Amino acid sequence: MFKVLTRNQISVKGLDRLPRQQYEIASEFSSPDAILLRSHKLTMEEVSPSVMAIARAGAGVNNIPVADCTSRGIPVFNTPGANANAVKELVIAGMTLGSRGILNGMDYVNTLGDMTDGAEMSKLLEKEKKRFKGQELMGKTLGVVGLGAIGSLVARAGLDLGMDVIGYDPALSVDAAWRLPSSVRRMENIASLFARADYISLHLPVLDATRGLVNAELLSNCKPTLKLLNFAREEIVDNAAIIEALDAGRLERYIADFPAPGLIGRDDVILMPHIGASTDEAEENCAIMAAEQLRDFLENGNIKNS
Ligand code: MLT
Repeated sequence: MFKVLTRNQISVKGLDRLPRQQYEIASEFSSPDAILLRSHKLTMEEVSPSVMAIARAGAGVNNIPVADCTSRGIPVFNTPGANANAVKELVIAGMTLGSRGILNGMDYVNTLGDMTDGAEMSKLLEKEKKRFKGQELMGKTLGVVGLGAIGSLVARAGLDLGMDVIGYDPALSVDAAWRLPSSVRRMENIASLFARADYISLHLPVLDATRGLVNAELLSNCKPTLKLLNFAREEIVDNAAIIEALDAGRLERYIADFPAPGLIGRDDVILMPHIGASTDEAEENCAIMAAEQLRDFLENGNIKNS
């Protein structure tokens, strides 16, 4: 019998991949064989000597002390791609929210709540709606930084929307490069991408090389109409540089999946509460993939995505 300690609520569809004749699953165990978690920030104190593997039902592993686990010989699995479609769809929504008067328009409509005269309301809307005019995505240039599972889907979606898509990935695998449509023009460096794009979507993990990557220097060389989207991790942008660029009119909009002090409440910023992968489907896909990886390791010793 393998004991799997869960942190966070894991989709039942994933847990069902661990047959109860062979697996005990609980949120408390004194000596578990494996840990299955989502966004819980794991400490080494929680990793008892009995633990043989850790699986994250999600792509990023920055909530897990991976280096310490590796030095103890514990593989850490993740589920790249399993939530990519969910994130891609929210990025498209983010680009649209950043380009059209949707949010302000909806706020305005809510102010009409007490009106009872429909004809009067139509007259008022006709007069006011020009304030909510926006721009279309078609024909604009989308720069995608990071062309892995999520970035490549965003790039394809951009093409489908009639955008010109340019991409940059400092560590593009040969496989990923082959899968990328040839109409995604690859830039030699991130600065060229920043200089050309109307929209930029970031899809990089947090690594020493990516922490604070989007800094004042990059933002000094972009179009003043740039809309920058960060649905990856907060740490890859320098928030102070974002605020400075917005204040100076060197960046038009920042749209991100992380609320951060200094950015909340600004008209030129749209923030979401890290919900890129929060869909029924993504949670199920991630849980299934994570559980299957654990099972394959515990029963057969196979290591995938670690
Ligand atoms: C991921 O890393 O999979 C996504 O950012 C969502 C999450 O953190 O759960």
